[in-house]
Amino acid sequence: MPQVAVKIGPQEKSFECQEGENLLYEAISRSIMIPFNCTSGRCGSCRIRVLEGAEKLSEVGDREILRLGEEQVEKGFRLGCQTYVYGDVRVEVPQPRLY
Ligand code: FES
Repeated sequence: MPQVAVKIGPQEKSFECQEGENLLYEAISRSIMIPFNCTSGRCGSCRIRVLEGAEKLSEVGDREILRLGEEQVEKGFRLGCQTYVYGDVRVEVPQPRLY
């Protein structure tokens, strides 16, 4: 099963999920709080940056390019709600919310 590591500030948490699952939903269901709002690719609050394993994620979609811009996408930014996991990845939350 794919292993997902999420870096939030100084902490890093990992979990396993089924192939093809949504990165944001899987993280949140394990209390790994990636900020989110719309879950439909519009608000941009679930922005993450891929540190390792970008090729193990679903392809960048039109909504991500529209919301993030090509420059951000080229730097490895994705929208967690639009990202599906197909292998081991490591991502970070660039602007974590402190709860
Ligand atoms: S939660 Fe709004 S773009 Fe992902």
